[in-house]
Amino acid sequence: MSFLTSTTHLHITTWVLALVLFFVAALASKPNKVVHMILRVMYILIIISGGALFMEWRGKLDDAGMNYDMKVLFGILVIGFMEMILVRKKKNKPTTMFWVLFAIVLLVTLYLGLSTGIGSNF
Ligand code: HEM
Repeated sequence: MSFLTSTTHLHITTWVLALVLFFVAALASKPNKVVHMILRVMYILIIISGGALFMEWRGKLDDAGMNYDMKVLFGILVIGFMEMILVRKKKNKPTTMFWVLFAIVLLVTLYLGLSTGIGSNF
């Protein structure tokens, strides 16, 4: 399954598409069931592509340490907050707090992903 783990391109494609679909759904005036459904499929693809990278590379990189585990944790939190925002929007509940948390965990995830391990390393 080297296409999953030899580069981070597939993983990047899945989360970029998910972010676009999330913003389309979250900023639309009415809830959009189809976009939300496709987004949920993207969550699964993010977890499969990220999980494969994790299993392949965890422990093999000297500099990564706990960052690798934290990357996975924060990646899952990003997905969790996207889902919370869309579900709360559908129920007409306030989402401000969840937007703030989403922004923070997204930034941390991008930082952890881009600063350690394989792929880009700033
Ligand atoms: C929407 C959520 C997510 C975002 C925005 C995100 C973002 C990123 C970014 C920016 C990278 C670095 C790519 C590169 O250096 O070329 C990356 C790598 C990675 N991601 Fe994610 N990710 C997300 C979800 C997940 C999840 C859910 C998992 C685990 C199940 C995961 C596991 C990994 C692993 C193991 C790597 C490789 C780290 C490395 O070696 O640089 N990610 N991700």
